[in-house]
Amino acid sequence: MTKNVILRVEGLTKKFGKFVALENVNVSFPEGQLTAIIGPNGAGKSTFFNLISGEISPSRGKIYYYDRDITDVPQYKFSKLGIAKSFQITNIFPELSTLENVRIAIQAMHSKYQLWKNRNELSSLRDEAYDLLGVVGLQDRAKRRADTLAHGEQRSLEIAIALACNPRLLLLDEPTAGMSPEETVDLMDLATKLAVDRTILIVEHKMKLIMGISHHLVVFHQGKLLAEGSPDEVRNNDDVKRVYLGSR
Ligand SMILES: Nc1ncnc2c1ncn2[C@@H]1O[C@H](COP(=O)(O)OP(=O)(O)OP(=O)(O)O)[C@@H](O)[C@H]1O
Ligand SMILES: [Mg+2]
Repeated sequence: MTKNVILRVEGLTKKFGKFVALENVNVSFPEGQLTAIIGPNGAGKSTFFNLISGEISPSRGKIYYYDRDITDVPQYKFSKLGIAKSFQITNIFPELSTLENVRIAIQAMHSKYQLWKNRNELSSLRDEAYDLLGVVGLQDRAKRRADTLAHGEQRSLEIAIALACNPRLLLLDEPTAGMSPEETVDLMDLATKLAVDRTILIVEHKMKLIMGISHHLVVFHQGKLLAEGSPDEVRNNDDVKRVYLGSR
């Protein structure tokens, strides 16, 4: 069965000065799957992530979302297209409650131009926000100030904020960074749950865990695409074995 392609890059290249961080990458991401982007330190994973999320521009190459060329689309338009991302860097309002953080994100999507809301609308926005907190398992933290949440809970809150635009494509760069083993397992469960009705791209270092939940893997090494395929295909790929045995 051929799958729809949600995102595709062609000849994607990124140079920082003379240094080529990513070189002529051609890769497609199947819709409705959880794809992990893996590779050793410095492989170009975050550079790739930043390119496909519109954070930085390529030196060369094209990025297509479905069949639309989004290479030059400014990043602020991504949420309207249905692309959302959650960063290693936090984008939470620390002094607001967990619920208010999500409510503001939803409100920003609903009405860019209408600042004042009547009471009914506000309460329905809060209901939506509360539902999203349920998706990420934070309903019992709704009233807590965001800066009092545990690290893993803050990462989950960021995902709830990213989900506020109801994205078709959710991009996550090392969501488990700094998490405890328990928080990491919870996050992997959440990613699995979210992948049921949307496409997820996730940059992840924790090989064993990510192999267990991914449908598809893309492996970078020294700025180049090294391999791609199902977890079994990638696990048994000689180039991948060589790189991982050599580096860790
Ligand atoms: N803004 C930049 N300026 C110069 N060099 C950069 C810049 N960003 C990344 N690089 C270099 O590009 C290469 C790829 O970096 P990148 O952050 O994409 O790797 P990564 O695969 O995400 O690594 P990690 O697993 O450590 O997060 C590295 O050698 C890095 O030093
Ligand atoms: Mg990185």
